Amino acid sequence: MTDTMIYLDHAATTPLRPEARAAMEPWLGTRFGNAASSHAPGRAARAALEDARERVAGALGAERMEIVFTGSGTEADNLAVLGRWRHLQRRAGPATAGLVTSAVEHSAVREAAAQAAREGAEVTVLAVDEAGVVGLDALEEALELPQAVVSIMWGNNEVGTLQPVARAAALCRDRGVVFHTDAVQALGHVPVSVSEVACDLLALSAHKFGGPQGAGVLFVRRGVELEPLVRGGGQEGGLRSGTANVAGAVGLAAALERAVAEAEAEAVRLAALRDRLQEGLDRLDGVQGLGGGGPRLPHILTVGLDGVEADVLLASLDLAGLAVSSGAACQSGGSAPSAVMVAMGIRHDVAVRFSLGRTSTEAEVDGALARFSQVVERLRAAGAAGR
Ligand SMILES: Cc1ncc(COP(=O)(O)O)c(C=O)c1O
Repeated sequence: MTDTMIYLDHAATTPLRPEARAAMEPWLGTRFGNAASSHAPGRAARAALEDARERVAGALGAERMEIVFTGSGTEADNLAVLGRWRHLQRRAGPATAGLVTSAVEHSAVREAAAQAAREGAEVTVLAVDEAGVVGLDALEEALELPQAVVSIMWGNNEVGTLQPVARAAALCRDRGVVFHTDAVQALGHVPVSVSEVACDLLALSAHKFGGPQGAGVLFVRRGVELEPLVRGGGQEGGLRSGTANVAGAVGLAAALERAVAEAEAEAVRLAALRDRLQEGLDRLDGVQGLGGGGPRLPHILTVGLDGVEADVLLASLDLAGLAVSSGAACQSGGSAPSAVMVAMGIRHDVAVRFSLGRTSTEAEVDGALARFSQVVERLRAAGAAGR
C-alpha cells in the first residue's frame, strides 16, 4: 500500500476506533484471565466480559442475556440459520419445517441455508426486484407453510439496498415464525434497535463498525431456542462454547456504543459524500450506478461498467493507489459473477464497490474519482488499441 493510498473499502473492513483500541489494550497486555476461572484474574475477565455484554445490550435495546458473543458475523449468521433449523428438526422430527431467505444474502447466510438444504430443509429463496428489494408478497406466501426461520438481511453489502426488515419481522411475528436479520452492514449506518424491530435473531460483526476483526454478536431474543454449532465447555449460555475473547468483546462493545451514538450524524455525512462520488461517476461514460432508486445504506456505492476486465481493473486501481472492491471482498476473491448481481438482473463486465467510512473525506472522494476515471480511460484505450 502506498502512502497516498485512498481506502474506499470500508464495507470490507474499517479501521479500529481509538476507543475500541483503548478498551482492548489492557486485555492484550497486563490484564488477562479466563472468564470461566473462579480465581481473581478469572473473575476480573468475567466482569469485563459481562460489562461488555451489558453495554452491547444497552446500545441495541436488548437484555444482557440476549447477547451471544461469537467469533465473526459469519458465525453469528450460521448460528442463527443453521442453529434454528437444526433445533426444530431435532425437536419436531426430520424436515417438518423449511427455511426462507432472500436471493441477495451474504454467503454467510446463503451457505448456512445450503447446508440446511443438504440436511433435508426445504429452502425458499425470495426473489428481489431490479433495485434488489425483497417482495413481501412472496414472504407472505412462504409463511403459509411451516418455517423454522426466515432470514432477510437489513442492508446489502454489495449494492447497499435496505430491505423492509421491520415489516418482514412483523409478518413473521404474526405467524409465530422466528425472524433473523443480518445487520452486519447496517449497524452504525442506520438506526438498528431490537426494541423497534420485531426480530428474534440479529447478527453483527465488530470489524465493520470500528471494532476488532474476529468478534461478532448474535442477538437471541429471550425464549428463542437454537442448537449450538460449537460444543464444549458451555460458554455463552451453552450456545457458543470456547474460552471467551475478552479483548474482542470489550473492543466490540466500545466500538458499538460509539457507532450507534454517531449513526444518525454519520448517515447524513456519508450520504453527502456518496452523492458527491455518484455525481462524479455519473459524468463518466458507460459507468452506471447500481441498486439505487430505493432506500439504501449511506456508505455503499456500486457501479457497473463494460469494456474492461474485472481483475485487470482492480489490479490497476490498486496500483493507482485506490483500494475498492469488486462485489464483496470477503466472499469473492475470484471474478465469478456475484449471486447478488445475477439476482438483480445486472449484467456488466465489472461491478466496482466504493464504500465509505468514519475516516472518509471529500478530498478522498475527489482523489478517488480522478484515479478511477484515469484508470478506466487508460484501460479502455488500451483495449480499443488491441482490437
Ligand atoms: C452483510 C454481511 N454479513 C456477514 C458478513 C461476515 O462478517 P465477518 O467478516 O465478521 O465474518 C459480512 C462481511 O462482509 C457482510 O458484509
